[in-house]
Amino acid sequence: MNSSQAKAEIKRLAQQIEEHNHRYYGLNQPSISDAEYDRLLKKLMALEEQFPQHQQSTSPSQRVGAKVEGHLPTVHHQLKMLSLDNTYSIDEVKTWYKRLVKGLSGHQPPLSVEPKMDGVSCALTYAQGELILGATRGDGSVGEDVTHNVRTIRTIPLKLKGRGPSLLEVRGEVYMDKQDFAELNRQRKDSGEELFVNPRNATSGSLKLLDGRLAAKRHLKFLVHSLGTLEGQKPPESQWEFLRQCQQYGFAVNPHSRLCKNLDEVIDFCHDMEQKRQELAYDVDGVVIKVNDLKNQARLGTTLKSPRWAVAFKFPAYQATTLVRAITVQVGRTGVITPVAELEPVFCGGVTISRATLHNFDEIKRLGVNSGDRVLIERAGDVIPKIVKVTQKLSKGVFAIPKVCPSCSAKVVKEDLEQVAYRCVNPSCPKQLERGLLHFSSRGAMDIEGLGEAVIVQLLQKGHFKNFAYIYRLKKEDLLKLELFADKKAENLLQAILQSKKQSLSRLIYGLGIVNIGEKAASVLARHFGTIQALIKAKQEELTAIHEIGPVMASSIVDFFGQPPVRALINEFKDLGLNMKESRSPRGNKLAGKKFVFTGELEGLSRQAAGRMVEAQGGEVTSSLSAATDYVVAGASPGSKYAKALQLGVVVLNQKKFEEMIHG
Ligand code: IVH
Repeated sequence: MNSSQAKAEIKRLAQQIEEHNHRYYGLNQPSISDAEYDRLLKKLMALEEQFPQHQQSTSPSQRVGAKVEGHLPTVHHQLKMLSLDNTYSIDEVKTWYKRLVKGLSGHQPPLSVEPKMDGVSCALTYAQGELILGATRGDGSVGEDVTHNVRTIRTIPLKLKGRGPSLLEVRGEVYMDKQDFAELNRQRKDSGEELFVNPRNATSGSLKLLDGRLAAKRHLKFLVHSLGTLEGQKPPESQWEFLRQCQQYGFAVNPHSRLCKNLDEVIDFCHDMEQKRQELAYDVDGVVIKVNDLKNQARLGTTLKSPRWAVAFKFPAYQATTLVRAITVQVGRTGVITPVAELEPVFCGGVTISRATLHNFDEIKRLGVNSGDRVLIERAGDVIPKIVKVTQKLSKGVFAIPKVCPSCSAKVVKEDLEQVAYRCVNPSCPKQLERGLLHFSSRGAMDIEGLGEAVIVQLLQKGHFKNFAYIYRLKKEDLLKLELFADKKAENLLQAILQSKKQSLSRLIYGLGIVNIGEKAASVLARHFGTIQALIKAKQEELTAIHEIGPVMASSIVDFFGQPPVRALINEFKDLGLNMKESRSPRGNKLAGKKFVFTGELEGLSRQAAGRMVEAQGGEVTSSLSAATDYVVAGASPGSKYAKALQLGVVVLNQKKFEEMIHG
């Protein structure tokens, strides 16, 4: 095949695959088998590899996901992403409607009613029909650029079907089906990762991943629900026309949405949806009611926070009553003891519930609950429901806070009168070690694939672990003695352990599981101190002088590294050859407060690297261009942003000028 034949074939295959994507994910009407689909995709990828010059940025092969370095860039929304006012009863909906009719001088407008998807709001921008930006809502004015992850969502067209406008920004909800969420949590449990609380949290976490290849595996979906910006085409007259247009562009719109002539139809829809919500594949937390006609929407206008032409009718949370069989306590990785209510299994909102969280012992006191009581439980799409109140006091006496740890029988203490948490005082408590090891090997920390809960529990039972350093002393014969371990699996795990020695210092700090130190703080500390030795020596004042580190975090760090076993562990890590350094890029302030936008290809310089250069000098990189942008850096074959920059009068720099600015 020659180059021009390959070009035509790549184009044909890409179109064909996207059509199948749309049929499968958008219309729910697949016309080929999964195997056939995979075959087409493989064929396309092979051709693209052979003829990389013909690969397009909108190719379906790009849905496998790309990686972003550092952190997600911020995006300034051209048009603020508002939220909705909530109503909690039909009476409140009626009151809202009355006000609406008054605002329209007595006109009773038709209303578009749509399920309120319990997902994550996202804005997608298309320039000349091609997806150029996917951004989260953030605080409504500034969100995060999640384009690399949005590209992996198959219900999102990378290229609009037909003739799209020159610029289109649609807004909608990224979400995860309940089944996919359950499967994801099952996998996370197996590999010892923290569980997501509900599909919305899982969606949000997935959208914010830096590695699009991981996001691609999360089965995210997207339903469009509102119009942002539109340029170069007549705007639709109504919400209903907008949704229809979106469908023609290749987006999925919610098939349950209806156009209602009057309020009675709206009320029927709300009742109907509340009945149906359990059967839906995804979480819906209410109904969104919108004035259909866009001119009437404009007449009604918006407040600072939300439009007057729309409202959310929120469903009540799922509730049920059941018996508390027992109250058990769990030990976490930092030794905190958490009570959990074991319940008589009860069906609630489509799932069977057998446990409820009690958060802490103050909560038990507040509820006055003990084993044997009948209680009202509630779940709002969450995995673990909560107890609302005791409905029938059947137990005698009050629940006694355990005096000893259920795992190691060491003393349990309330360390600080201000805090509600009780802790097991034994630093070598096996349960703490188990939870700590799981955290240490988890994906956000040392990322040791294969060292999950089942393996750790067995290794602990066999006495292989006394502290985290023992991971690096494991031998093949130790692993072969475990259940379901054969040669290959053991080798893979040992290889993963070896690889993890190279992880960054920030991951190591995070993995140590210091109380109050999350991923972000760990990365701040690693970059500030550069080596673990410098961090160990840091005094409280030096720590609190760092902008992102508060006094509570600082004390946690000082206390943690003050413990002799921790210091010994760090020495062991050193002897075992773990990386304990982080490169500290010198920071300047030549570009303090300046906002940069990049467009086109830079020669020998990736976007990420260029972005880091800007940030290292105190500047900021954004994806969307507005009058607030200071510089547009235009590389080869720049996109529509170049023309827009000229229109807005923003200074355009070529690569040479940009590099002079940084280095000069
Ligand atoms: S319209 C002005 N329609 O609900 C806001 N929003 O509580 C226009 N949501 O941030 C939004 N389903 O993320 C609209 N069918 C739907 C929706 C929906 C879910 C979310 C949206 C918004 C939040 C407000």
